[in-house]
Amino acid sequence: MINPDLLRQELQEKISLVSSLEELNQLKASVLGRKGQLTQYLRSLGELPLEQRKILGAQLNSLKVELESFFLARERELEEARIRESLEKGRVDVTLPGIRPPLGRRHPLLQVWEEIEDAFLSLGFDIYEGPEVEWEYYNFGALNIPPDHPARDMWDTFYITDKMLLRTHTSPDQIRCMEEQRPPIKAIMPGLVYRHEAVDATHMDVFVQIEGLVVDKDTTFADLKGTLELFVSLIFGPGRKTMFVPSYFPFTEPSAELLILWDDEKGHNAAGGKWLEVLGCGQVHPQVLRNVGLDPQVYSGFAFGLGVERIAMLKYNIPEIRLFMENDLRFLEQFG
Ligand code: PHE
Repeated sequence: MINPDLLRQELQEKISLVSSLEELNQLKASVLGRKGQLTQYLRSLGELPLEQRKILGAQLNSLKVELESFFLARERELEEARIRESLEKGRVDVTLPGIRPPLGRRHPLLQVWEEIEDAFLSLGFDIYEGPEVEWEYYNFGALNIPPDHPARDMWDTFYITDKMLLRTHTSPDQIRCMEEQRPPIKAIMPGLVYRHEAVDATHMDVFVQIEGLVVDKDTTFADLKGTLELFVSLIFGPGRKTMFVPSYFPFTEPSAELLILWDDEKGHNAAGGKWLEVLGCGQVHPQVLRNVGLDPQVYSGFAFGLGVERIAMLKYNIPEIRLFMENDLRFLEQFG
């Protein structure tokens, strides 16, 4: 004898235990399908006596309706669970920190180079650039450097041919500049220069110079000093200790060097109270003016050539010039 209540209980339990849609469909087919358990029962009702058939038939039919809604409810549950699971799996945690590619930055030397250019631009200078491979004439002859001058020695100069060399300073750009434009001239000329010399903590065989040239009708040595003092205060702030000392260059007369005291803002010496030479300068030699066809009776001027590495060393208290060329990230990363 079929007991519909027991059957309901048993099937309800089975339905609730099913854990996937596939299993649920199988179970559904085995109960309500064409050859399913309940379908069979309904079919066999015909064999029962009328009274019994009426009662059991009604019970089984309402069980069928109930079971259909149980299956449907469970199907929805499983469907939802599946969606939840796949959302969970594909979820992106937007709060996780991303992978940061390492950020590049300007080389400290370029930063200082640019700062120096900006300082001179703010003082009304133009920028002019000449070649690194230079004629001997521009590097030496036109600058009043005679053939027997020690700077021409094989040990100071990288020669390419008899007449061609790697410029040893940016001063040849003075000549190029004056050949190309007439006074008034007020320009800086930055670039790499090369010297065949022993490398040590303050010397390298390639370094950056910035040449300056002012030519007009009545420039004086006071203009030169004033311009350079203003420049130092723009780069280092006010109060940096400087000193002009007499010097000699064949292409300036009189000539001087500017020294800056090597200590930091708090007055601490990085190099034991050493004065570092940062530039050579002077009033343009009359012969240099004549070499470019300018009359020294009418025109005068001043020039300077500064070492960018040295300015950077003083500014950031770096006692070793070679650090600029070594590409050591521990060094470079300190300069944001
Ligand atoms: N050219 C000189 C040097 O390399 C520096 C300098 C430039 C001096 C201009 C006077 C005038 O040392």
